[in-house]
Amino acid sequence: MIFGRIKPLDAILATAEKKSLHRSLGAFQLTMLGVGAVIGTGIFVLTAEAAQKAGPGMMLSFVIAGFVCAVAALCYSEMASMVPVSGSAYTYSYAVMGELIAWMVGWALILEYAVAAGAVSVGWSGYVVGLLEHALGIDIPNMLVRGPFDGGLVNLPAMGIALLVTWLLVIGTRESAMVNAVLVVIKVAALTLFIVLALPVMNMEQFSPFAPLGFGGIGAAAASIFFAYVGFDAVSTAAEETKNPQRNMPIGLIGSLTICTIFYLLVAAGVVGTVGSQPLMGPAGEALAPGSKALADQCAAIGDQAVVCSKEALAWTMREIGWPQIGNLIGLAAGLALPSVILMMMFGQTRIFFVMSRDGLLPAVFSKVHPKFHTPHVITIITGVFVALFAAFFPVGILADISNSGTLFAFAAVSIAVLVLRRTDPTRKRPFRTPAIAITAPVAILGCIYLFFKLGIETKLMFVAWAVVGLIVYFAYSRSRSHVGRGTVEVHEADPDAPPQPVPPID
Ligand code: ALA
Repeated sequence: MIFGRIKPLDAILATAEKKSLHRSLGAFQLTMLGVGAVIGTGIFVLTAEAAQKAGPGMMLSFVIAGFVCAVAALCYSEMASMVPVSGSAYTYSYAVMGELIAWMVGWALILEYAVAAGAVSVGWSGYVVGLLEHALGIDIPNMLVRGPFDGGLVNLPAMGIALLVTWLLVIGTRESAMVNAVLVVIKVAALTLFIVLALPVMNMEQFSPFAPLGFGGIGAAAASIFFAYVGFDAVSTAAEETKNPQRNMPIGLIGSLTICTIFYLLVAAGVVGTVGSQPLMGPAGEALAPGSKALADQCAAIGDQAVVCSKEALAWTMREIGWPQIGNLIGLAAGLALPSVILMMMFGQTRIFFVMSRDGLLPAVFSKVHPKFHTPHVITIITGVFVALFAAFFPVGILADISNSGTLFAFAAVSIAVLVLRRTDPTRKRPFRTPAIAITAPVAILGCIYLFFKLGIETKLMFVAWAVVGLIVYFAYSRSRSHVGRGTVEVHEADPDAPPQPVPPID
């Protein structure tokens, strides 16, 4: 029963030809979409958390997390180019491992996308609040800019940005993608400025001791900093809106991941080599967990004079090395650009809900398309409200780790799916073939499992609880309404106002 109800690939592709989202994105826009979705809170904010877990060894953490993403991206690309439809890991799993696994993957993707959007909203709030303080001398009370777990009441800026992005998505993908492109340029410019100013003044002694908390610390930091790479798969969820997806999807996925990895390593080196990144230890020499009260106390005792204490690590580093105005500029860039990440996360989320609804697993109203904007506005608004609530009440580190747990599950599922499909459907045309799949896919699967187990115990328990809720919803609601289960796989939302769509070549 576990692997039952496979949705035939041909039915998935046929539905994609007929359905109603515009095909408007090309390779360049896709790469921009990827960079827009990927560079964000991970590098701008969570660098401090990684430093506390691994010290200078966080450089290695970036490499480990980036490597796992790279092998997973190679698997993703084969699926995305072969099955160029919305829904990413969810759709691929449906076609290969059946409805139950697909449902669980889709359910896990809610953690990935919606919770990540909340995390980035909180990261954005940290930079904007810091910028207001440093550049304009405006001090907003913590009660209004932090959630209840973080010494405040409600994070109003984080909530506000989530709702603003929701509105952008409701008015249309095309406009949103253009806004995204401008913000990507700002973000890349800020990181470039940081690298250009930090690298020449590095002191190599800062790299020693390289792994103060051992390889365990490096692995734990990799599991958290993995968040910095989350989002490249948002590119694949845009497949149904992509021109010539067979060519453009792999370019968008691999291209954006390569650009991001290079930036991360250079930025991390800049932080380590200038201000140093040794973890703060407790009175007995014990390692202090990021986000813990003990670490907050230790930070207060030293007047926050360590990068691991900062909520705006890159701006803080610039101020420390004598570039206070550039620090503010980086704060401004983060403030302007992080919304593009929120946008891509929510975009991915709404498209997955859209497809799950079209498959009958979620209520039909979720896949309603707006007559004027041609966007799935109902589900966009529902998603936006939840993201705003996560952002208002939870700290960034917790949200990022929870998001990672869902992402790792989905990545592992796709890697398995690619492997299975090579056996069960070997002759189907694969516009992009994962190189050395017999090694790449197992390495991706093992890498995801390794990083998952390096997450904190609370995060793992949250993931299990979420999965249990998912199973209950599936058996109580979705299973009996599934179109595949009812034998009506071709059913999809008609959109009378949509213009005729170009039919992509299939084989
Ligand atoms: N990778 C995205 C970020 O770091 C989610 O913000």
